[in-house]
Amino acid sequence: MEAFIIEGGNPLRGEVTISGAKNAVLGIIPAAVLCACTSKIENVPDIKDVNKMVDILEKLGAEIYREKDTLIINTEKPIAYDVSEYDEETGQMRASYYLLGALLGRYRKAIVPLPGGCNIGDRPIDQHIKGFQALGAKVVIEHGHVKMEAPNLKGAHIFFDVVSVGATINVMLAAVRADGLTVLENAAKEPHIVDVANFLNLMGANIKGAGTDVIKIRGVDEMHGCEYSVIPDQITTGTYMMAAAVTKGNVLIKNVIPKHMEAITAKLTEMGVEVREEDDGIRVIGKRPLKAINVKTMPYPGFPTDLQQPMAVLMAIARGTSTITESIFESRFKYVDELRRMGATVSINSRTASITGVKTLSATKIRTTDLRAGAAMVLAGLIADGETKITDIVHIDRGYENLQENLRGLGAVIRRISE
Ligand code: EPU
Repeated sequence: MEAFIIEGGNPLRGEVTISGAKNAVLGIIPAAVLCACTSKIENVPDIKDVNKMVDILEKLGAEIYREKDTLIINTEKPIAYDVSEYDEETGQMRASYYLLGALLGRYRKAIVPLPGGCNIGDRPIDQHIKGFQALGAKVVIEHGHVKMEAPNLKGAHIFFDVVSVGATINVMLAAVRADGLTVLENAAKEPHIVDVANFLNLMGANIKGAGTDVIKIRGVDEMHGCEYSVIPDQITTGTYMMAAAVTKGNVLIKNVIPKHMEAITAKLTEMGVEVREEDDGIRVIGKRPLKAINVKTMPYPGFPTDLQQPMAVLMAIARGTSTITESIFESRFKYVDELRRMGATVSINSRTASITGVKTLSATKIRTTDLRAGAAMVLAGLIADGETKITDIVHIDRGYENLQENLRGLGAVIRRISE
């Protein structure tokens, strides 16, 4: 078990460079198995979820080489379509569900354990299954595995009942190899949807409309390998923006796409934080007092659910009462108990947290309940009045590359200990 020890009270100053987007690359790596080919993927973050996905594909028979942030994935030899033996690996992450779409696309069959991932609420995959069935797959769920077979994979018109990132990417992965036209309506529009679609198009797929709520996919018989560079991570960028703001720091965040950050920039500006676009990235300058604001999480281009937890830390020391309404995952407030232990004043009413700012947070031992809660705990530790110990940081390692080194480079006093 590892933990972070943070000595709070140091404003972050300097520059940090953002790595590739976790939730894009976790769709792109399975996409690479859609043909017997070799692809080169750059700007791949070194995080646990990516390493786990690579590990699973290698066990299925893919040959994968990694050099720094570049992955070369060779799937020229057939790979297994039955992942059921690797339920321990797939159970540790959400994105293992993308193997369903990718293997169904390539082999017309797939057996994949039900996914794991952060415990942040009810996370059904009914929309994924509805999409696969519409493409002609027979789907059964047995002994914790999803088993699918579709001798004839056929394009279809699919209207998603909810906006789902996972279902949009997953059905897209299978539909690129189906016969004829698939239309996805009420599709998710997140930047990583566009990134996966761009990668697939470079592999020879024919996808139009990614980034809007109607995506049209004309199935192709042949695909080929390609070279691709993953977009920067929107959520990691937002986390560093908030870390700079909450510590009253001054940080230039490089390798970012400012357009992806508009919802976050707008809310930080409303709080009184200075956010400036510069040639090289986004500069964030923390100011005091932070003003209370109201945030409602929404699918992109709204405020991302993955950043409401770090945002709660800014609210915890803002002047007045702020609210967060979580409209995507109903249990994404588990971290609030930990913030309360540090002196934050938070009350929860159904899906809304009301947070009344206090002068400062007091350092203590706190626990990470999931990936983004972990980012919030780190931000809380950075401003607390003394030494904070954060346990269960394995969640943080799933999604943040070099967090402690990057923060140290910005002047934070943080170290990792093994217990
Ligand atoms: N939903 C359904 N049925 C489905 C799929 C989703 O009802 O078949 C509901 C969910 O319960 C939720 C909403 O639709 O209320 C949105 O879920 P979505 O499918 O968009 O989420 P996801 O695919 O499970 C991905 C990210 C999450 C991120 C969400 C929302 C990956 C691997 N995970 O999850 O990332 O919070 O989209 O943007 O891409 C994280 O990075 O920390 C993380 C949790």
